[in-house]
Amino acid sequence: MITDPHALFESWFAEARAAEPNDAEAMALATAGAGGRPSVRMVLLKGHDERGFAFYTNSESRKGAEIAANAQAALLFHWKSLRRQVRIEGTVAPTGTAEADAYFATRSRDARIGAWASDQSRPLESRAAFEARYEKLVAEFEGEDVARPGYWWGYRLLPERIEFWTDRPHRLHERRLFVRLADGAWTESLLYP
Ligand SMILES: Cc1cc2nc3c(=O)[nH]c(=O)nc-3n(C[C@H](O)[C@H](O)[C@H](O)COP(=O)(O)O)c2cc1C
Repeated sequence: MITDPHALFESWFAEARAAEPNDAEAMALATAGAGGRPSVRMVLLKGHDERGFAFYTNSESRKGAEIAANAQAALLFHWKSLRRQVRIEGTVAPTGTAEADAYFATRSRDARIGAWASDQSRPLESRAAFEARYEKLVAEFEGEDVARPGYWWGYRLLPERIEFWTDRPHRLHERRLFVRLADGAWTESLLYP
């Protein structure tokens, strides 16, 4: 039995990638700004290691503003084909510019231009205005490399609590909770479903 939560996550994630028809890396990200009112949206997991769970976005988006005001956040994976969920809670920190540059460079040219074209989360007058803006940028970047916009980067959720939930018969589901201690070690316990 795997008793390290990061290793357990990797094992479940590998099974999810094999089982899910699409977007096994999709996770709900919950944030709450200074007022404490939660908001949630899907993002894609773009890196996982012992430090935590990385995703990329526009830092001037609603989620970016909420994280800037309150670094506490939560992630949720629900892999329906496997009837499993993973709940993760902790603090969010920026990945740093070198890591953001490296990931941005792996995106398609269209997606890189899209990052320039979208004022994510802010009001858009019309779909046509967005498309015109995108086409204008395509023309402007013609023959040039598309660098990462300064407002677009990654964040890493540094987990303090990770719970693995497994569907079991008679609703006697299994919940394995891992809590990170001050020295970095993890303790494991079970929760009633
Ligand atoms: C499956 C899925 C994956 C998504 N992945 C991302 C992502 O990795 N980064 C991102 O900024 N938005 C992603 N989105 C869009 C977000 O859900 C959201 O609409 C957007 O980031 C704006 O959120 P905000 O206004 O709360 O900041 C994804 C949406 C879906 C449905």
